[in-house]
Amino acid sequence: MDPVPQPDPDLLIDFNDVTVRRSGHTLVGPVTWQVELDERWVVLGPNGAGKTSLLRMAAAEMYPTSGTANLLGETLGKVDMSELRPRIGLSSAAVASRIPRDETVSDLVVSAGYAVLGRWRERYDEMDTDRAVDVLESLGAEHLSDRAYGTLSEGERKRVLIARALMTDPELLLLDEPAAGLDLGGREELVERLGDLASDPDAPATVLVTHHVEEIPAGFTHAMLLNEGSVVSQGLLTDVLTSENLSEAFRQSITLDQIDGRYFARRSARFGRHRTR
Ligand SMILES: Nc1ncnc2c1ncn2[C@@H]1O[C@H](COP(=O)(O)OP(=O)(O)OP(=O)(O)O)[C@@H](O)[C@H]1O
Ligand SMILES: [Mg+2]
Repeated sequence: MDPVPQPDPDLLIDFNDVTVRRSGHTLVGPVTWQVELDERWVVLGPNGAGKTSLLRMAAAEMYPTSGTANLLGETLGKVDMSELRPRIGLSSAAVASRIPRDETVSDLVVSAGYAVLGRWRERYDEMDTDRAVDVLESLGAEHLSDRAYGTLSEGERKRVLIARALMTDPELLLLDEPAAGLDLGGREELVERLGDLASDPDAPATVLVTHHVEEIPAGFTHAMLLNEGSVVSQGLLTDVLTSENLSEAFRQSITLDQIDGRYFARRSARFGRHRTR
């Protein structure tokens, strides 16, 4: 009998032909995808492409309907999901919606450790408070420590949520549309912070989901383009992010520009700019 293949511990995400189906409808897949240490991925695609479904599987929040999903050297379905979750930091609209408005920022960040680890508060208090200050500082949000979450601006909330996701020192950081709802300044500030994080060799492997190439921070290394649950292209960011691939993913003709390590996309002009009848 062939031995059962063991998950490769060097692969943080190792999905083989995974699909998620509900009521006969394929949400995402089949996807085969590997994420290694030090990689920073962006997952791009239009509304309904399956990005959040893919990320929820990577967060050990959802099992695949078919295929094999290995996370952090464990196979989903063969390991207690609650053992994996403390090793994964997740920031998403669903996480945000569960936060009480009157929770203070410092409690919110410190409690990430307790919420996922079930630690004894008394024993870890000082160490965790120091770490909370560190992670808030790394996102330029330390001055918000004493504020109630409900009083923060959208941009401040996003940074605090990412700090919370980093609190447990995860091996994998998953960000679902971290810049959604931000104004231009807020988006640029966040993208810069995420760029700093991406260039930090001690930062966890990261997967960022977005609709917009403008939100890809400098230092990101890989990309996956999804459309209707299927992978249009994946691999090195520079290979994947082309006008042709984006046009296929978004089903319209897209022109892509790159300036100073950032990307900008727009719909291609239907005719030449100076064309006359
Ligand atoms: N529980 C469910 N049952 C049935 N269909 C679902 C379920 N959850 C998601 N879907 C559908 O699966 C598809 C993929 O959803 P998903 O949320 O993963 O897309 P997305 O790429 O994150 O979209 P968006 O950019 O709008 O956030 C959508 O068509 C959605 O309506
Ligand atoms: Mg989504």
